[in-house]
Amino acid sequence: MTPDDKKKQVALAALETVEMDTIIGIGTGSTANHFIDALAGIKHKIEGTVASSEASAERLRSHGIPVLELNNVNEISVYVDGADESNKHMHLIKGGGGALTREKIVAAASKRFVCIADDSKLVDVLGKFPLPVEVIPMARSYVARELVKLGGKPIWRDNFVTDNGNVILDVHNLEITDPVALENELNAITGVVTNGLFARRGADILMLGSDNGVKVIE
Ligand code: A5P
Repeated sequence: MTPDDKKKQVALAALETVEMDTIIGIGTGSTANHFIDALAGIKHKIEGTVASSEASAERLRSHGIPVLELNNVNEISVYVDGADESNKHMHLIKGGGGALTREKIVAAASKRFVCIADDSKLVDVLGKFPLPVEVIPMARSYVARELVKLGGKPIWRDNFVTDNGNVILDVHNLEITDPVALENELNAITGVVTNGLFARRGADILMLGSDNGVKVIE
């Protein structure tokens, strides 16, 4: 199976985690896109969705799936999203698509977080995938210097502005042995909006598409 076949396989399987007549949080990226397409088949059975990016909101609307404002919603039953890396503790690196801030907000506001990915995303130690950090534009150079002090090599993502009007620094060369501590440390740098470590609020269930079917870690 190709990585995309595995993403499609796991996205379909994730439909089982959808609670009927509730509001579903929707992630961003190619795996989340497969989930949106699958969700279209049961759109009359859910109350609506909250999207983690403009791109996902547009795709949901193109299927006639209602997209609600988070501020108008009391409870999101489940958030379904992909990841760039996950360890076995379900600490994640996210933000390869640049939607990390809204993803983190929707994940925080959801009762359960179901992470869907192809099996290549499961790693022993996080950090081979460059860690995205969303930064207020005027703080870019300052934050980059602080990231170097932590041992990282930040690279300004070319020609990219987030849905929130900010820039992304992709931090290379990190070996993340304590994801919770690093997430806290990065959050404490003035000018950082969000970092792509989802460790304090990791996934509750990890579903991995593989040649041998969908593997579930919970
Ligand atoms: C988007 O900002 C990311 O967090 C994605 O969830 C992550 O990059 C996974 O993307 P794919 O599903 O395209 O691999």
